[in-house]
Amino acid sequence: MAAEGMIGLKLWAGRFSQETDRLANKFQASISFDQRLYRHDIQGSIAHAKMLASCGIISADESKQIVEGLKQVLLDIESGRSVLSEEQEDIHLNIEYLLTQKIGKVGEKLHTARSRNDQVALDLRLYLREEILTLMTSVDKLIAKFLTLAEQHQSTIMPGYTHLQRAQPITLGHHLCAYASMLMRDLERLRDTFDRVNQCPLGAGALAGTTLPIDRQMVADQLGFSGLIANTLDAVSDRDFIVEFLSSVSILMMHLSRFSEELILWASAEFAFVEIDDSYATGSSMMPQKKNPDIAELIRGKTGRVYGHLLGLLTTLKGLPLAYNKDLQEDKEGLFDAIDTVLACVTVLTQMLNHLRFNKQHMYGQASQGFACATDVAEYLVARGIPFREAHAVVGKIVAYALKTNRDLSQLDLGEWRQFSPVFNEDIFQVIKVETAVNRRRTIGGPAPEATIAEIGRLRSRLAELRKWKEEKAKQAGLDDLAGMPA
Ligand code: ARG
Repeated sequence: MAAEGMIGLKLWAGRFSQETDRLANKFQASISFDQRLYRHDIQGSIAHAKMLASCGIISADESKQIVEGLKQVLLDIESGRSVLSEEQEDIHLNIEYLLTQKIGKVGEKLHTARSRNDQVALDLRLYLREEILTLMTSVDKLIAKFLTLAEQHQSTIMPGYTHLQRAQPITLGHHLCAYASMLMRDLERLRDTFDRVNQCPLGAGALAGTTLPIDRQMVADQLGFSGLIANTLDAVSDRDFIVEFLSSVSILMMHLSRFSEELILWASAEFAFVEIDDSYATGSSMMPQKKNPDIAELIRGKTGRVYGHLLGLLTTLKGLPLAYNKDLQEDKEGLFDAIDTVLACVTVLTQMLNHLRFNKQHMYGQASQGFACATDVAEYLVARGIPFREAHAVVGKIVAYALKTNRDLSQLDLGEWRQFSPVFNEDIFQVIKVETAVNRRRTIGGPAPEATIAEIGRLRSRLAELRKWKEEKAKQAGLDDLAGMPA
């Protein structure tokens, strides 16, 4: 029995003559959060036990008992029959403990030629590669949604901005396609990150491998990894793959946050470009008239939290000597929280896109004001042989004249146009219409509906390629098997 304030002897307590203090144990235990890795820990242990038998380090019968026992432990955890305990510190010791309780002495052979240092690195990689594929599926859905909306709004004219000042007319479809392209890069970054996560560290032991004749490649193959993290010191101390993931999702969140910011602006009375459905907005407890874009604001707010996890881990890592240090246990909570946060944001934003009503009339009206077609006039002059710099100055003077006489370009008559340049003709009135301005911008990636449709097509085929890639990777990683467990 443990003394008051102390807990029982640990699996590693051979050289210890005192039990761990309860407070010290609570402080260093990670089970409250790393229990999330139970399935991956068991999956890795099964592969390890099979390899130990195949290399003659344990017998085939022992391996079989261990594997069967581990599968039972999995069922016990999932059905709630087994409870994970703080006494056993972390998920690795908990599972080894439950296994040994279940199958007796032979369970003690599982940890041969292995350390929790390579084990935790393995578990995290197994876990993260699944989460990346799940997240990629959600981002894919969000992009598809943006593209559907872009298609619907290929001819919905709105002002395009620089410096948040009206600049040139574009379409809402063009604007939404910009987000689809950003998110496509995010998807590609997640794909690249997956390839570096998908490497097997097991067999590195505590830091320097083992004297026993293990077969590292066999474990990697069983778990569907594409290769090994060969250097044993690197294998146990590397967390680049988490940093890289957090960087990728930070960029993704930054994109979601920019879109959220635009929605918030657009939903204001000042812009009035969009109305968010009541089902995706909230009210004020004091001001009866309020309808607030809380969901978008929260996505913007949570972006800071995800950046925080990236900075937190980079800072944890920067002073660590090789190889494993317990500081590395701090990699998990931020990672888990980032995954939950990003997935929730992507999912809720995808839904929210179904609940927006764009005020097309108003957007059109705003695009038609404020000299948005001034560049088109300059290009009209360029097409008639006038150097661009000179054309720019001429149009600047026309704008100043219109402002002074309190009119829009469309309200000037031909005689007035000709005071500024003799090359102006009747056709200038067509050129300064917003529809013309949009339709004539047909170069690749431009706002003309035909260019937008072409871009939507390119993005859709890229999505299809990435879906195929994802299916192949899921298959290689054995993720179509029940709960990712190897047969
Ligand atoms: N719970 C630990 C972690 O998350 C597992 C590895 C512990 N290794 C050790 N030598 N104490 O990093």
